[in-house]
Parts: sequence; C-alpha cells; structure tokens
Amino acid sequence: MATAKKKKKKARRQVASVDHHRLYEMAVQSPDHDVPFFDRIYKKKNGRLPRLLREDFCGTAFLSAEWIRRRPDNEAIGIDLDRSVLEWGRVHNIEPLGKEARRVRLIHSDVRAVNWPKADVIAALNFSYFVFKDRQELLGYFRNACRSLAPGGIFVLDIFGGWEAQMDVADKSRYDGFTYTWEQKGIDPVTNIGRFQIHFKVDKGPTLRKAFTYDWRLWSVPEVRETLQDAGFAKFDLYWEGVDEDTGEGDGDYRRIKSAENCPGWNALIVAS
Ligand SMILES: C[S@@+](CC[C@H](N)C(=O)[O-])C[C@H]1O[C@@H](n2cnc3c(N)ncnc32)[C@H](O)[C@@H]1O
Repeated sequence: MATAKKKKKKARRQVASVDHHRLYEMAVQSPDHDVPFFDRIYKKKNGRLPRLLREDFCGTAFLSAEWIRRRPDNEAIGIDLDRSVLEWGRVHNIEPLGKEARRVRLIHSDVRAVNWPKADVIAALNFSYFVFKDRQELLGYFRNACRSLAPGGIFVLDIFGGWEAQMDVADKSRYDGFTYTWEQKGIDPVTNIGRFQIHFKVDKGPTLRKAFTYDWRLWSVPEVRETLQDAGFAKFDLYWEGVDEDTGEGDGDYRRIKSAENCPGWNALIVAS
C-alpha cells in the first residue's frame, strides 16, 4: 500500500460488466491469498486444517465461495447487515458453486448477534470492523467473536496505518479494463473518524463515483490488541505485509513481527486466538 489503500493486487479477470460489486472484488479482495494464509496459521497451531469459516461483514461472500472451492469438506457462514449485497453474492458467487452451494449459509444479521455454530476461522477483512467507532462497540464485537470460535479457532482481522493513512488522498490504481480510486478525507484527529470512498472508471465506459462509502474510525494496533485482550483473547500475533521493491506496493507476503519501522503506509493482518 503506497497510501491508506489496502491491496493493489493485479486483477485476474477482465472486466465483464460494470457491476460495482464485481469491480470491488477484482480491485480489493484476494481470497486466493487469504485462504492459504488461514490454512497456514491454523495448521501451525492445531496440526490440522480448519473446516468451518465464518466470514464476518461478508458482503458478496467472495471469500466464502473460495473457501468452499478449496476443499470438499469446507463449510462457510457469511454474515452481513445489507440484504441486497448478500443477494448479489448468492446469485453471483454462491449459486455458481452448484450443489456445493449447500455448504454455505448466508445470514442477514449484525455480526454481533450471531455466535453459533462455532467456527475454526473467523475472518473480518478489509477493515470492516472500523465501522465500530468507540471502544465499547469494538469490545462487544470482539467478545462475540471470541465466544463464536471453536476450540483451536483463530480470529483474523486486517489493519492499516502510517502517516499517509491520516492524510486526504485520492489514490488511483490501474486494473485490467478499469481504474480504481481510493479516496480518504476529513480524518478528525480528535476522533480518528473519517470518510473513505471507492470510485471506479471503466475504460470506454461509465464512471462510478462513490461506488462505496465508509465512515470509519482508524484504529491503531495497540488499541486493537488491548481490546482483543479485554474481550478474552489470550494470544495476539501481527503479520506485516512486505513491500515490492519495484512498485513500492504491498507484495501480499505477510510475516510475523514484534515491532516495525515507521513508514508512510502499511498493511498488516492480526491473528487473535
Ligand atoms: C468493507 S465491506 C467488506 C466486504 C468484504 N467482506 C471484503 O472483505 O471486502 C463492509 C461490509 O460490512 C457490512 N456491515 C457493516 N456493519 C455491519 C455489522 N454490524 N454487521 C454485519 N455486517 C455489517 C456492510 O453491509 C458491508 O457489506
């Protein structure tokens, strides 16, 4: 990440439509990187592979679909508050799994209201928990996640920071067939709350301004670590994303660290258990 944008992965598919959900998946999500990471960390801890994934804030359930494709006994639960995005995901990501779709359950709910069945991995990616703006709300979410893990389970979150994360920026990235812009502005240093938006410009096609808007609080690593601890998690590990020397962008390779050099922008994955 050169600035406060999460991932700049190369799009792996051509733009098939101007659907904002599909463009989001192509520009922002990397389930083919996420799933091997979950497997690696879980296996190291438990000596076996995880089976049940709970995808919090699942949106289109893109990650859940990849989880199902990965192994024939994998199961997934996706939870989201927005009925329309769940429906889009059901049609575009879950139904195409054919009879394997029965291994996925999509739940229309607040993530804090579901604690069954207990999952081997709970993933809350793309900073979705930044929607919780005060410590009590964040603690409530983390407590519920802790209660919702099966023995040996892991809770995986991502986080970004660095001084560029505090700045007003509009950061453009090129993908096959479209340009993605991550814009952030108005971060109030008193509350750490700001507005984050995603825009798309499809080549020879429309511009989708404000395709997604988030009002988020930027949480820091120590705040998240302490809140996870208060919620009942005993172990906290931080995996820092490496930087591609040629592009200066994140390289998708996450290594466990205890401390890091200050830098303009960084991404990391948190694993709590
Ligand atoms: C940033 S998107 C994440 C989409 C996708 N999971 C990803 O990794 O890119 C955040 C999603 O969280 C959902 N959401 C926000 N607050 C929620 C809550 N309290 N419970 C469940 N879903 C929530 C929104 O509807 C939206 O689909």
